[in-house]
Amino acid sequence: MGWLDGDVAIVTGGGSGIGRAVARRYVEEGCRVVVADVSADRLAQVQAELGDRVATIVCDVRDHRQNAAVVRKAVETFGKLDIFVANAGMGDKFTELADLPADQVDAAFAQIFEVNVKGIIHGAKAALPELLKTRGAIVVTLSNSSFYPDGGGVMYIASKHAALGVVRQLAHEFAPLVRVNAVAPGATRTNITSPAAFGEATAGPQVGGDAAARAAAIAETMPLKTFPEADAHAAAYVLVASRTQAPMMTGTVIESDGGLGVRGLRRVRGGEDLARRVLGTDR
Ligand SMILES: NC(=O)c1ccc[n+]([C@@H]2O[C@H](COP(=O)([O-])OP(=O)(O)OC[C@H]3O[C@@H](n4cnc5c(N)ncnc54)[C@H](O)[C@@H]3O)[C@@H](O)[C@H]2O)c1
Repeated sequence: MGWLDGDVAIVTGGGSGIGRAVARRYVEEGCRVVVADVSADRLAQVQAELGDRVATIVCDVRDHRQNAAVVRKAVETFGKLDIFVANAGMGDKFTELADLPADQVDAAFAQIFEVNVKGIIHGAKAALPELLKTRGAIVVTLSNSSFYPDGGGVMYIASKHAALGVVRQLAHEFAPLVRVNAVAPGATRTNITSPAAFGEATAGPQVGGDAAARAAAIAETMPLKTFPEADAHAAAYVLVASRTQAPMMTGTVIESDGGLGVRGLRRVRGGEDLARRVLGTDR
């Protein structure tokens, strides 16, 4: 028995990274999943990996009609919709305002907000009628950047703060019939891409240069001292989506960020030598 047995979900941006890990875990929990992404190549990989418990559809979340087509695909293929995961998102290459040419500000703002904020709103609007029929749930991918500065540049941080507002307002508007929650991952090993306004597409900000050194530096910033793979967050998406396990959760954000909220001022983490002090061993 899985926690999502018999459920049908949509995962946007499920072609790679965190969304793909969520789709994989949902299937393991007994769910059938429609994976939506702008990349047909990535969707083909997901289909090959996850088989007939998954259906795929090319979708740009910035467009309402394409979101509506994703919802239709879920109903036509699997009969209903229980869970809508609004996960598709893009980064901004940590571009600070001082370094963004003035003539790029409009484009940078529009390109990030269209995906990271409007995409969630379009998805929720398209999914709502079917979620009302099943008393289903929405799960949004937020970020440490929904709470703290410097996990991106001003455009990414502003978009993820705005997305937190979308979660809270929709949780209010849709209660008591549809629950709306979020997972806020911290820095994660993915190849998140950025819109054109931030310059040429590259691999994710975490993997430029000497990848091992950058990964170690990122891990060092987190109290839990880990730069995780995408699947580290998947169980949180299962919990908030589950009718039986989270019946009282709405408007909640699970922060899956290695403890950024308890990062210290004197020390990043206070427990570095805890085992030695308490147990007398270094392990
Ligand atoms: N990687 C991190 O460190 C991190 C940390 C916190 C939050 N997040 C968030 O996690 C989510 C997933 O990012 P990821 O790191 O897995 O990156 P990713 O690039 O691996 O996955 C994002 C997916 O979204 C798809 N996508 C992009 N624009 C789209 C659009 N307009 N319509 C449909 N699909 C689109 C991409 O093709 C890609 O497959 C994003 O919302 C991101 O902001 C990432």
